[in-house]
This record gives sequence, structure tokens and C-alpha cells, in this order.
Amino acid sequence: MRIDILTAFPGMFAGPLDESMIKRARERGLADVRVHDLRAFTTDRHRTIDDYAYGGGSGMVLKPEPIFEGVRAIRQQIEDGQTSRTILLSPRGTPYTQQTAKTLAQADHLVLICGHYKGVDERVVEGLGVEEWSIGDYVLTGGELPAMVVIDSVVRLIPGVLSDIESATGDSFYDGLLDCPYYTRPECFEGMRVPDMLLSGHHQQIRRWRRLESLRATFARRPDLLDECALSDEDRELLNTLIERKDVDFHEPD
Ligand SMILES: C[S@@+](CC[C@H](N)C(=O)[O-])C[C@H]1O[C@@H](n2cnc3c(N)ncnc32)[C@H](O)[C@@H]1O
Repeated sequence: MRIDILTAFPGMFAGPLDESMIKRARERGLADVRVHDLRAFTTDRHRTIDDYAYGGGSGMVLKPEPIFEGVRAIRQQIEDGQTSRTILLSPRGTPYTQQTAKTLAQADHLVLICGHYKGVDERVVEGLGVEEWSIGDYVLTGGELPAMVVIDSVVRLIPGVLSDIESATGDSFYDGLLDCPYYTRPECFEGMRVPDMLLSGHHQQIRRWRRLESLRATFARRPDLLDECALSDEDRELLNTLIERKDVDFHEPD
């Protein structure tokens, strides 16, 4: 997969792209991530990328010209037949979820546009056929951190990036549920013991215990997820057991 990032602050990507899983994916040629300085697509002497908002008010707006130039230059490099999606990171966008990451991971190419200041001239959205995604109901200073969130969540789903042991398929949200809790050595730490089941060596029962804990956490913390989740007969049976035994600690949101 190729990922092009259009940003006014290219230096922000240096660390995250050069560490851990993304670094490995890049080194193995599974993810080709390119960072473009928006100022490289300006034509004036001052390399202007922003201007005042029409209608007044405080805060600058990213100008459309460098973004159009940049996206068009990047799109010219895409081979025929490749699937390409252009994304503007925006708090006004559709909420970004694991499901979004799964569909983006199937594309050959992504262009990520990072907004800044008050945002981006609205004509970018309609003129370039851009999708808008929000990483949550809060406002960050720029689209750089949201772009890194998208890149990390997508790249780890590219086949071959994660090793078997790190497999994403058991993680929270992958199949709609929260993940189960995990423990490692020592068996007893400051009086807290690892659940006996995990020490039993019964693989089938451990699988069932993990599924039960996954359902318990989802039911207690994020019951909204259960409405969207395709539960198996075994899941329903486990869930009913939890409900009948009143064996769930509900976590009230703050
Ligand atoms: C300060 S924000 C602009 C906020 C905008 N005026 C609003 O209230 O919707 C600057 C840029 O940060 C990025 N950004 C901030 N919060 C975000 C979020 N929750 N999801 C995605 N992008 C975000 C966007 O690219 C945005 O254009």
C-alpha cells in the first residue's frame, strides 16, 4: 500500500513513521509512506498556505490552491486500476472506527490531508472528492496526529505486517467486541493471582473463558457495541449466563 500525507508540518511524522510496526512495514516494502510539505505546492515567494477566513473571525484557513496542486500531483503517480482514497482528517467528519480501518486497508493507495488552524477551505472537499473522517469528539491542533492514528490502524491490517503472535484479529473491535484481559508472569504479583483457568492448560476452556471475558467487558463497558455485533449461539449462551448470574460490573461513563 502507498500512503501520501499532505501536511504543513512534515517534521511531526519523523518519529512515528520510524519506529515499531510502521518502520518494519516500510522496511519490508509493505507500506510506502511519503510525507509532502504543503509549502512545496505553493507558487508565491512567501510559500503561503493559509489566509484569513471570509466573513471575518479569528483564525486562519488553509488555502485550496496548494492542496489541489498537491493532491493532483500525487494522483498523477497512481497507476491505472489502483484503488485510491483521499481523506481529510476533520472533527466534522464521519467517526473513524476499526471498520473504517478494515475498508481502508483494502485500498492500494491513500492520500491523507492534514488540516490546521481553523481548518481547510471547504472547496477541497467537493472539488477533490475527499472523504472526511474524525478520530473522535474532541479537537486537536492539526490533522497530523489523526493521520498517524489512521496510518497505524490501517498498516497493521495489511497482510504480512503483523506476525502471528501479534495478530489483529483478536483485538478489540475487530469482530465487534472488546478484547479479554491478559496476564503474564509472575503467577502471583503483590497478592494478585492470575485466574486459575489460564494456568489450566485446557485450550478449549481457555478459549471459552476468553470469549466470556470479552463479552463481559463489552456488556459492562460498551453495551452499544453488542447491538452491531454478529453474536454466535455460543456467545448468546455465555451472555445469558452472565446476565442470569448478574455477573457483570457495569462501568458508568464519567
Ligand atoms: C483546530 S482543528 C480545526 C477545528 C475546526 N474549526 C472545527 O471545529 O471543526 C485543525 C485541524 O485539526 C484536525 N483535527 C482536529 N481534531 C480532529 C479530529 N477529532 N479528527 C480528525 N481531525 C482533527 C483537522 O484536520 C482540522 O482541520
